[in-house]
Amino acid sequence: MSEITGGKIPNNVNLAGDRKLQRALEAWQPSFLRWWQDMGPAGFQADQVFLRTAVSVEPEGWAHFDYVKMPDYRWGIFLADAVPDRKIGFGDHMGEPAWQQIPGEYRNALRRIVVSQGDTEPASVEQQRLLGRTCPSLYDLRNLFQVNVEEGRHLWAMVYLLHTYFGRDGREEAEELLNRRSGDADKPRILGAFNEPIEDWLSFFMFTYFTDRDGKFQLLALAESAFDPLSRTTRFMLTEEAHHMFVGETGVLRAVERTAQVMRESGKDHPDDLRRLGVIDLPTLQRYLNLWYSLSLDLFGGEISSNAATSFATGIKGRAKEEDYPDHRALTGTYPLETVKEGRLQREEVPMRNAMNEVLRDAYVVDCQRGVDKWNRALEEKGLPFRLRLPSRRFHRQIGIYAGAFADPDGHLLSEADWRARADAWLPGPSDRAFVRSLMQRPIDQPGTMAGWLGAPRQGIKGRPVDFQYVRRAEA
Ligand SMILES: [Fe+2]
Ligand SMILES: [Fe+2]
Repeated sequence: MSEITGGKIPNNVNLAGDRKLQRALEAWQPSFLRWWQDMGPAGFQADQVFLRTAVSVEPEGWAHFDYVKMPDYRWGIFLADAVPDRKIGFGDHMGEPAWQQIPGEYRNALRRIVVSQGDTEPASVEQQRLLGRTCPSLYDLRNLFQVNVEEGRHLWAMVYLLHTYFGRDGREEAEELLNRRSGDADKPRILGAFNEPIEDWLSFFMFTYFTDRDGKFQLLALAESAFDPLSRTTRFMLTEEAHHMFVGETGVLRAVERTAQVMRESGKDHPDDLRRLGVIDLPTLQRYLNLWYSLSLDLFGGEISSNAATSFATGIKGRAKEEDYPDHRALTGTYPLETVKEGRLQREEVPMRNAMNEVLRDAYVVDCQRGVDKWNRALEEKGLPFRLRLPSRRFHRQIGIYAGAFADPDGHLLSEADWRARADAWLPGPSDRAFVRSLMQRPIDQPGTMAGWLGAPRQGIKGRPVDFQYVRRAEA
């Protein structure tokens, strides 16, 4: 068991025992804090927020809850405890000891993966920085900030790896992680979904459900890595990620429940009527779902990928829960894919290692469906016939074999003209966005009060009631 120690940077990696590394990270820290002031939640930096902070890596009781000003949050470096004599669990090096240092030939590939993961963490904070101004309740405001500070900590986790194991290149990459900006034309973030604006709370809930869940699966795959420090750091990140997805799942659920309640009470089901009654109609919820799900599917990369094959072969990145698969070398066998040729779908058998992105995406899709089922149960309980659903994974893709194809949510291929003529029914358009934003014009900051479009949560945070003062404004 490794102990968390204090100092400027809380950690359980014995930072004090490596003065050079400690100095380098202490030099990066002011840049991080400047970035947080510039790009973190706008307008709330002086407020007291009821946050959890990691204080240990034990499964029970790793978190401490208290009021803290966000700039004073104790961002630290926490690795899950080492597994004694850990062996590589897949690929060509299966059975060999896990790496405590990076083999030179894999350094570039590993650096790319750590940088890509690291880049998503500050990106999401940037995407969400204005949401506090339109929070639907203090409970939700607190959850937003919890997600934001933990994404900041995830950035620390990746920067620790860059500084410790990648030499000068790693230090330069750590600087660059603070220089790119979500949505910036000149210095965008690396991955598409992390440059999309999150301008309203429905998008935030869809993002934390679908896009943070991509994060979960990337972290699960990296938790299998032969590079042991990466495995240990991602294992601890997963404990924090679970809360982000909870925020998304329950956020969408509460929106669905509130709409369903108003539908029952009013007897109306036309979107125009429901909009007049101040709730988000179900077809609009479906369009937001379609958008964020399809953007998140792209994050897994191409269906047929030699990079993915190499990452698996070398041991850099495995599958989610690798132990559940019968064959950890995946040298034999194929994966059946429906590819697009001359505007038609055709079946193609792909060597298993080349299909590893798709295998990970499969696990993600199954996990996404569970929340959709819960949302639909809420509709069913109200006796409403509408059902939300995940669109086909061919729908609205920009990466991989379906990029450039025009599929409807059922997966049928259309002409570009037909697709464009009908896209308004499938993806949020300007009027949907304007309506959703019209519901979110000011912060709802009375304890226990919820915005009219959103149901109340079942319970509060850490045993506190729903009407607890989760955020204390500085000038309240
Ligand atoms: Fe994260
Ligand atoms: Fe997250």
